[in-house]
Amino acid sequence: MAMRGHPLGGSSTQQLETPHGRFVFKRSAQLGEGCAAKVYEGRDLESGQFVAVKVYKDIGRTSLHCFHNAIQVGKLLNGKSGKRLQDRTDRGLFVEVVAHSANHGVPGPDLGFLFHILELGGPSLEDVLATRYRDASALSMAELRDLHWSLFSMAYKLESLNLVHLDIKPSNIVSFPQSGNPQWKLVDLDCVVPAGAARCVVTKFGDITFTPAYIAPELARAYLRAGPGQAKHCPVILTPAMDIWSAGICALEAVVLASLLTDQYIKLQKETGSDHEFLKWLGDVDEQLFSSGVIESLRTVDADMARLLVGTLTKDNTRRLNAKDCLMHQWLRPISEAMRQKASSSRSLMAPTRSQLHMLERKSDTTSCKQSTATDEPVVKPIKLNKPLKQSTNEQSPDVAKWTSSTCETM
Ligand SMILES: Nc1ncnc2c1ncn2[C@@H]1O[C@H](COP(=O)(O)OP(=O)(O)O)[C@@H](O)[C@H]1O
Ligand SMILES: [Mg+2]
Repeated sequence: MAMRGHPLGGSSTQQLETPHGRFVFKRSAQLGEGCAAKVYEGRDLESGQFVAVKVYKDIGRTSLHCFHNAIQVGKLLNGKSGKRLQDRTDRGLFVEVVAHSANHGVPGPDLGFLFHILELGGPSLEDVLATRYRDASALSMAELRDLHWSLFSMAYKLESLNLVHLDIKPSNIVSFPQSGNPQWKLVDLDCVVPAGAARCVVTKFGDITFTPAYIAPELARAYLRAGPGQAKHCPVILTPAMDIWSAGICALEAVVLASLLTDQYIKLQKETGSDHEFLKWLGDVDEQLFSSGVIESLRTVDADMARLLVGTLTKDNTRRLNAKDCLMHQWLRPISEAMRQKASSSRSLMAPTRSQLHMLERKSDTTSCKQSTATDEPVVKPIKLNKPLKQSTNEQSPDVAKWTSSTCETM
């Protein structure tokens, strides 16, 4: 790979070239930034298609782990191995890594750079919610239902592969345009870890990465139990229920157009100078997440939706809905029913929903469903519970500060 001035641009623009000279991008075309990497819009010179280029900030141990992990996990989650972008016929729930840096054919740094070539998405959920808040334009019921379906489908797929993501949050959910509502996909697969055969696994805090405002209460409790400075060496049981919580927070934020727990986190961190108070509040099962007023407001939007959100955001993880419960929930019934009917009338199913359809067919539930369409449904009035989400495409602190370990290794 060589970095050099872009032939069509000024000297400040740069071109990244693979050994085959296939992919190019300009540094000025940045799509987003996270803790580990910057993402740019680029182009596949072979196919002419636009792509996203994720360039890791360094080639250290953590970045290398993330780079390899995302490739492997991406293949698993998308149910196929490294397809070329132009051959892609379906749109999954997880971003596809279509190419990556390699050294003599082995995935790894290429002349000092680690990068993934990804299918190109549009704005992240974080950006979409910020824009909707600014424009006072709430998501319609159909848009909300569609997003919620995608979020819990992601959790279902992860669980079906015994994986836990632990960092599901709006900046890691990106919209991919398609006819009708956009397809939401999880883009950051760097730190996905196994949940183990028994649906839970003991790992160490030092091996996982997550964002305080989106972590499950049981993770906060485990962190606190470890004591100051000890979390990195503390064993913690990882379960799919943790992803359900994070997906539930994203689902709730899309309804209320507010970054609820982020604001709480920032406030408590400013007051106390540490994460401790926020984690204590989050982990305490006796401290309600929802006031009765909030639940009432959610009910006025849709009673079924309110029940689903409350069921996923139960601090007691033993009482939390699981992914299957979520997909079979009355609120999502219009989608699950449509999928079931499509599945029974056709065998040409889209890859990312195959497992969901299988599950739905097995259930053979004949309960009638509420019909809805994107056009005839009322627009949800945003509930102003808190400050708006930040209009930002990067993941700099504090709202998305990660507890990133120095090792970031799976077990
Ligand atoms: N395939 C993509 N298409 C469009 N934007 C993307 C894509 N992947 C990532 N982004 C943007 O880049 C940001 C950082 O990417 P991410 O993979 O989350 O990096 P990190 O691992 O450093 O957190 C995301 O929040 C999103 O805004
Ligand atoms: Mg990210």
